[in-house]
Amino acid sequence: MQNKLFALARPEIVAMSAYRSARSEAATGSIWLDANENPWNDGQYNRYPDPQPYSLVANLATVYGVKPDQILVTRGSDEGIDLLLRLFCRAGQDEIMICPPTYGMYKVAATIQGASVVEIPLLKEQNFSLNSANILEVWRPSIKLVFLCSPNNPTGNLLAVQDILSICKKLDKKSIIIVDEAYIEFSSSDSLVNYLNDYPNLVILRTLSKAYGLAGIRCGVTIANPGIIQLLKKIIAPYPIPKPIVSIASKQLSLNGIESQIKIIYQERDRLFFFLSNLPFVKKVWKSDANFLLFEVENSKMIMDACISNGIVLRDRSSEYNLNNCIRVTIGDPNENTFLMEVLSRV
Ligand SMILES: Cc1ncc(COP(=O)(O)O)c(C=O)c1O
Repeated sequence: MQNKLFALARPEIVAMSAYRSARSEAATGSIWLDANENPWNDGQYNRYPDPQPYSLVANLATVYGVKPDQILVTRGSDEGIDLLLRLFCRAGQDEIMICPPTYGMYKVAATIQGASVVEIPLLKEQNFSLNSANILEVWRPSIKLVFLCSPNNPTGNLLAVQDILSICKKLDKKSIIIVDEAYIEFSSSDSLVNYLNDYPNLVILRTLSKAYGLAGIRCGVTIANPGIIQLLKKIIAPYPIPKPIVSIASKQLSLNGIESQIKIIYQERDRLFFFLSNLPFVKKVWKSDANFLLFEVENSKMIMDACISNGIVLRDRSSEYNLNNCIRVTIGDPNENTFLMEVLSRV
């Protein structure tokens, strides 16, 4: 199984020896003269951090219900996306598949890597569900990665688990299926982590930037078969996780406080959904399993201008595939949402 996954990765990465940083080689000891650091410990930061701080990895493994060797901690899940592109796609030869409208970084990371992008649009008339038949019909061997975002940004809907798993099965040993679960904590669905053992080509992206309220520390997690994690470790920067991140993230993970905030987000999402649905200039609001709502208006620029003149920043998604005059609004705190409603009532 491992060999088949290795066959999908860039052969030069599989063959190369990873850079061995001093700390990745260090055994045990008490006098550290191996990494050209400053010996004085005034600020606690004179030493390089652990490349993958074990306490954080173990903590995240428990939170996500996987084994530590299935986890890679990255600088946001954006870094996970970039690493997967670099691991699997040879410039000018390999491709990725995405399902627009979706998160923009898949395409950006592909372009930077020199991989072209095959787009199989979500079915707008079917609540932006996957066009599985088309994905399988169009698939070709140069497509190394298939990115699926669930709940999808910016449409907010979950993708059907059966659709995702059937794509994993049909593309077994042919493509890596990356399911981006950045917003899964806000949804009514469980993570797909329980399927990792059944589908070795499944990779899951999680992040502390959304429900855990830690966008500022840049902490993302790639969860996959240990073979894939080992290969990703070969190409990640030597010391990606700064020391303060470990304590900040671990503290937040142990707080268990996100449930109460998520409850409020649910209530506020319903309140805003109902309000937007009844505005005369709103043509459609899509049900959301994330911490944002997408709505279509007659003239998005007019709404954006009205909001910004009151200090409210929304995201006009008109430039995205099939989303002309569609705006994405993040669910704020109750006061922010109330103020937004007041402003929109006056438009
Ligand atoms: C679907 C999706 N994936 C990944 C990311 C990146 O998140 P991170 O902050 O973990 O890099 C975002 C950020 O908005 C996102 O919407």
